[in-house]
Amino acid sequence: MSKKGTVLVSGGAGFIGTHTTVALVEAGYDVVMIDNFSNSGPSAVEGVEKILGRKVTFEEVDTCDEKALRGVFERHQFDTVIHFAAYKAVGESVADPLKYYRNNLVSYMNILKLMKEFKRPNVLFSSSATVYGDAETLPVTEQTPRQEATSPYGNTKQIAEDILRDCCKAYPGFYGIALRYFNPIGAHPSALIGELPRGVPNNLVPFITQTAAGIRECLSIFGNDYNTPDGTCLRDYIDIVDLAKAHVAAVDRMVSGKMETKYEIFNVGTGKPVSVLELVTRFEKANGVKVPHKIVGRRAGDVPAVWADTTLANEKLGWKAERDLDDTLRAAWAWEQNLHKK
Ligand code: WQD
Repeated sequence: MSKKGTVLVSGGAGFIGTHTTVALVEAGYDVVMIDNFSNSGPSAVEGVEKILGRKVTFEEVDTCDEKALRGVFERHQFDTVIHFAAYKAVGESVADPLKYYRNNLVSYMNILKLMKEFKRPNVLFSSSATVYGDAETLPVTEQTPRQEATSPYGNTKQIAEDILRDCCKAYPGFYGIALRYFNPIGAHPSALIGELPRGVPNNLVPFITQTAAGIRECLSIFGNDYNTPDGTCLRDYIDIVDLAKAHVAAVDRMVSGKMETKYEIFNVGTGKPVSVLELVTRFEKANGVKVPHKIVGRRAGDVPAVWADTTLANEKLGWKAERDLDDTLRAAWAWEQNLHKK
């Protein structure tokens, strides 16, 4: 066992799970990855192993299956869990809320119940800037009031944060950190792991890379009549490798007993707003490719602008986003191209 300790990563084969596993192992942690491959596949685990040059512990387990998950707790010693396993398509959650509430909350409750029962102290929850909704003041700090969720997906994030807060309050020896991610994009510089959307991508960058690759004819930009400098929405696009490192910093904080309260929340973003149009242009320039695009009507539920105040994460986690946006966009394109070589 590593001196630093072992981390259970649920949803380990996903976009954020794979990059976080790589970052944890590179930082000296042992990792137990679990995933049910509902939105990923064995090639994601293979990508992680290729980058690390060694095997990782992986089990195909559905976190909704309490019995199977209990087996993982019985077989492996770990102090910390990072819980990524969840569905994440906003539109689908509106169409089928029960699917989202059941999957995202049952899996989470199983994790928390077993952490308590097996006396494993640290839970890191994968939350989202979506909890801020259409914030009145920008950038948002962790103190910015959450707004009522506009989708069941967003609501599962708010509920899960509250459950963690209450568990930390009630149970001695139980600690929690919620990381609120802004817009994670990019891919590992090796192009061996990245985002693997199924079907038509909902998120902007996979749609851009697929359009550049000729898989999609044209990118639709949802609205250019927002009250923003160029009329398109502003977001805080965080590089996936930087995001993965934020998890390492949060785990370090938990295992070294540096938490100031039993439950803490951190924004994970760059602190820099970028418009949709700007992102498309930067992608084209950085990669020397064209992304055919047109302006269409607004997408229901989009907020005009949201970006992070990252002071708390900078100061308390000693973490800061470092990757240059052009490098991030080059990595996203390299990953897309690599997919078509296979
Ligand atoms: C970014 C911007 C769109 C696609 C969501 C979730 C969040 C997080 C990340 C999940 C917006 C515009 C997009 C397209 C476009 N969770 N856009 N054309 O909506 O900020 O955040 O994904 O995994 O919780 O809410 O991200 O990438 O969908 O959109 O113009 O084809 O790009 O309108 O302004 P979003 P996104």
